[in-house]
Amino acid sequence: MAERTFVLLKPDAVQRGLIGEIVSRFERRGLKVTALKLVRVSRSLGETYYAEHKGKSFFEPLMAYIAAGPVVAMVLEGEGAVAVVRKMIGKTNSADADPGTIRGDLALTIGRNVIHGSDSADSAKREVALFFRPDELLSYARIDETWLRE
Ligand code: RTP
Ligand code: MG
Repeated sequence: MAERTFVLLKPDAVQRGLIGEIVSRFERRGLKVTALKLVRVSRSLGETYYAEHKGKSFFEPLMAYIAAGPVVAMVLEGEGAVAVVRKMIGKTNSADADPGTIRGDLALTIGRNVIHGSDSADSAKREVALFFRPDELLSYARIDETWLRE
């Protein structure tokens, strides 16, 4: 089965009207959207989601940021999806992100970096389960699939 990754468009992406632009990049790359929804991240979900950063100096601002408005959660599927999406997103600090990446084209700072993508297949599994029930992941074929690989 093709690899899965989890992507979250953070509140600044939604507020700045960037949902379409960002989803479009993934679609054009050939990644398949298998789940997608607009949600609000509660304090408790935020803490679980970013548990690895608890205790760090930026944790509280990060909690405020992620809960500041609706976010778009999605699951993307495709060969090497985890690494491909991380590459498309660019470096954590948008100021260092290469042009052509999502952060490098659409963001300026680390504290408002518009998007999250899972950093490993294990993280993806954990994050997908935090945001979606199993029956919310849909299985279907895209009509271009036979043209995406040999
Ligand atoms: P993300 O988890 O959001 O995809 O980002 P990432 O893997 O590229 O970076 P990570 O180290 O996991 O950091 C999570 C998010 O916390 C905020 N952050 N702020 N002010 C700071 O020094 C700082 N460091 C991290 C960013 O929003 C980052 O995306
Ligand atoms: Mg991370």
